[in-house]
Amino acid sequence: MIETRTRVSTAAALGRALLASLALALAACGGGGGTATVSAPPTFNTAPPAGLDATTFPTGWTEKSDVFLNRSVVTAANPLAVDAGVEILRAGGTAVDAAIAVQMVLGLVEPQSSGLGGGAFMLHYRASNRTVETYDGRETAPATATPNLFIVNGQPLPFATAVVGGRSVGTPGAVRMLELAHKDHGRLPWARLFERAIQIAEDGFAISPRLFNSLNADQALRTQQPAATYFYNTDLTPKAVGTVLRNPEYAATLRAIASGGANAFYTGPIAADIVAKVQAHPTNPGLLSVSDMANYQAKKRPPVCGTYRTRYNVCGMGMPSSGGATVVMALGILENFNVAAMGPQTVDSVHIISDAYRLAYADRGQYMADSDFVNVPLAGLINKDYLRTRSQLLRMDRSIGVPPVGTPPGLSGSTAFGSDATHEGGGTSHLSIVDADGNAVSMTTTVEGAFGSKQMVRGFLLNNQLTDFSFAPNDSQNRPIANRVEAGKRPRSSMAPTIVLNPEGEVEIVIGSPGGAAIIQFVTKSLIGMIDWKLSPQDAIELGNFGAATTATTTLERNSAVQATAFADGLRARGHTVAIADQNSGLHGFLFTGSRNPGLGTGAYRGWVAGADPRREGVSRGD
Ligand code: DON
Repeated sequence: MIETRTRVSTAAALGRALLASLALALAACGGGGGTATVSAPPTFNTAPPAGLDATTFPTGWTEKSDVFLNRSVVTAANPLAVDAGVEILRAGGTAVDAAIAVQMVLGLVEPQSSGLGGGAFMLHYRASNRTVETYDGRETAPATATPNLFIVNGQPLPFATAVVGGRSVGTPGAVRMLELAHKDHGRLPWARLFERAIQIAEDGFAISPRLFNSLNADQALRTQQPAATYFYNTDLTPKAVGTVLRNPEYAATLRAIASGGANAFYTGPIAADIVAKVQAHPTNPGLLSVSDMANYQAKKRPPVCGTYRTRYNVCGMGMPSSGGATVVMALGILENFNVAAMGPQTVDSVHIISDAYRLAYADRGQYMADSDFVNVPLAGLINKDYLRTRSQLLRMDRSIGVPPVGTPPGLSGSTAFGSDATHEGGGTSHLSIVDADGNAVSMTTTVEGAFGSKQMVRGFLLNNQLTDFSFAPNDSQNRPIANRVEAGKRPRSSMAPTIVLNPEGEVEIVIGSPGGAAIIQFVTKSLIGMIDWKLSPQDAIELGNFGAATTATTTLERNSAVQATAFADGLRARGHTVAIADQNSGLHGFLFTGSRNPGLGTGAYRGWVAGADPRREGVSRGD
């Protein structure tokens, strides 16, 4: 493994000695990986100074560097989870094997974000035939749910009231989905993938600063048992950073799934306990039943792909996630502007990218939901001619403001109308993996909000994914909203696990992020950073986040360069309403650079370059 700082801005400081040792290290780990090694790291454009103040940055900021790897990469939100994935790859496991091991540890050490009680979307790249397929492990609404699930006394419940308890809990999908992916692409035995997580659950792990901050910020979790006893002291203050948490119940659950497969989770005593927790909640019971659990199905679906600047084929998750399609739409609109010449973190680029988001989000809100229930005009929405026509609505000197909904080709009989708010809260995680054979996984995994529904069962937390539905079933004109609750339906997501291929069908970029509806913006920003601005993954991830959705408001990340006063004034002069807010991405990804890839990075280096979001605790490791 080679882990060093090689950003152009600091490359001079590295000196010849470091480059020489890098060359030796690259040569030393070259065997068997199928990728040639050469003597010098690639160069990337230099990102403008991020302007971040690490002492005041509200979501935390840990300096990180690009990591250069030869054969394989695991990049994810927690070092223990990353190490579990690397261990599996070294034991001969595939990218899917490693993803399962990473997820099992994340559910323990980053329980605020994802786990057994949640859902996930996985993109898988199969190197042998150069294809991308997607796995849908999204939660479903119970069979007895109606469009009025969140309507009480004729009014939508307040969001926070809806979250805590059983009402918001959808049938968890992650475990069944991982089992399906393992059947298709696993190499190591299923049970082997649980060993490290079981050991850490039994031996204990130290509470990290980020987990502590999430516990400290959460007012509801400490009122719900058994989570309160597990995470908090008797005076209901959070257990301190460094406190060793043991979770024998989680270990026992993992042992059951390891030996009995996903059936041990979806039927029998574990499923019964999940259902009892949901149905017996004292103030906010839910509808999830044992038959919902037993009947849950993970689904394989085709990816949504669209080219960007001709050579990049950007593939993402299709419905019920809006993520892939909305990223492809935003890029398809931006293709009609010279974003590369505008440069990163300029008024011009933030203006036009934000306005492109507005057009894409307007259609997302109108048309996108679970396509098993709603007729989504997907082909029309990502049609190049349609997106070019949409781009002609935009001007460089004036923001479009509140964006109009478009009329994509192929629209037939869709009466869906109206968009609902998507809420953010640290309840999601993204991992990107490539194995030595070149198979890759891009997986975004979530319990929705931080600690999901706050209901803990057998050592893990249950999701609150049903609050990703529109609470109101109809709009003000009484037309049904596409993303309303329906029995068995999957709530619309923004998760955007992404894999970018070159014209030969080889992997060029793997990336994704948490962040609720802003996931689409975080991922698109990073893709533009790497593709148009030739930034390294780390620099692209570090760029100040910004974005817009369906209003005139453009949000700039607090304490980042894009918040600079002159910058905000420049946007206001073009009609943007500027808001400053935390933009808590958790981007983890990598690109391939080398002779097959003239676009990303320069020089003769051939290998993977990985980045991890400094806003979270993640790392990139591998061989
Ligand atoms: O599926 C979705 O789009 C949301 N449930 C994701 C929530 C999220 O990313 C919260 N994050 N930080």
